[in-house]
Amino acid sequence: MGVEQIIEKIAGIRKAHPGNLMARHFDGDYFRGLDEADQQRLLRICATGIENPDSAMGAYAMNPGDYDDFSTQLEPMIRDFHGIPARVKIAQQHDWNVEGASCDLAAIDARLKDVSMRVRVARNASTFPLPGAMSKEQRVAFEDVAAAAFAKLIEDDAYGGQYLSITPGSPHEIDSAEYERRVASHQMFKDMSADRYLNVAGISGDWPYGRGMYVSADEDFLVWVGEEDHLRIMAMMNGGNLGALFNRLHKGLEVLSQLLPPFATSLVYGNVTSCPTNLGAGMRASLHMKLPNLTKGGTDLSRVTDAAKKLGLAVRGAGGEHSDAGSDGLVDVSPSARLGVTEMQIMQRLYDGAAALWALEVEG
Ligand code: ARG
Repeated sequence: MGVEQIIEKIAGIRKAHPGNLMARHFDGDYFRGLDEADQQRLLRICATGIENPDSAMGAYAMNPGDYDDFSTQLEPMIRDFHGIPARVKIAQQHDWNVEGASCDLAAIDARLKDVSMRVRVARNASTFPLPGAMSKEQRVAFEDVAAAAFAKLIEDDAYGGQYLSITPGSPHEIDSAEYERRVASHQMFKDMSADRYLNVAGISGDWPYGRGMYVSADEDFLVWVGEEDHLRIMAMMNGGNLGALFNRLHKGLEVLSQLLPPFATSLVYGNVTSCPTNLGAGMRASLHMKLPNLTKGGTDLSRVTDAAKKLGLAVRGAGGEHSDAGSDGLVDVSPSARLGVTEMQIMQRLYDGAAALWALEVEG
């Protein structure tokens, strides 16, 4: 397709799908002004949003440097998604100090003392391309680097556990029954080759090579290898103490960062991720809440989605992205903002949002 046809096609997407941020911010003159090599690079970044016009973001970075090299296209999309106006400087601060924060969900209501809580951060090694641009050899080589770090973690009594790989022929390989069991228990990620957004971006390429997960002995600290980012490092607990959850993640993250190559970061965006939605803290913190009244028995997410949006939260089904609510009204709620907010601000939003949604649920 020629340059003018591409520009026209994206203009068409912008009209038909106003929510597609790639199309919304695509500037034909900027594209025309790039040399051919850079036009190809930018098209690869935007391909997922061109082939999937219903995309919300519609772009994935292929290399950490893309955020600087193509800031003319990417920065307006990032500002739009994260709600940062053009006149405000983008800045990412970090704060993991849970002292003094409201952490105890049971203080909202005793019925919230045993909630499924999870928090993850996305990290990428600066020594490899991002997953969309990795070769099969690089995916497996990165998994070997990660597995060596996990071997050290396993020796540490605070972690223990095991590394489970789905790379055919890996010394850590698990069988498909074990993989399915880990997916069903929400520990392991789903078959990425079924995701059309990731496919077009190349992120699910060479599936299942280079993919696996570390899980601690207590199954409360986990690390995904080779999903949308090189690493998704997470803590997962049933309970009501968000502070304990965040501390578990933070300590594990510090230990791991000593054992791995340096993570990719940007002076502007903080932690660099494949998807521009995850830049910054790279954090997604969520609760699985049973809200049968607010969701009409899990059949209708519109009311809870509206209420959550006003609180800066996003709602999805408990089965992950693009899933529906359970019949018991079980939904996953998480603060939407990742960039320009600290880890503690994310926790505070989750806590305050949970309290507000719970009040609506109890009201009926
Ligand atoms: N690429 C998809 C879109 O643009 C998903 C974006 C957010 N989700 C994610 N897993 N990164 O709509």
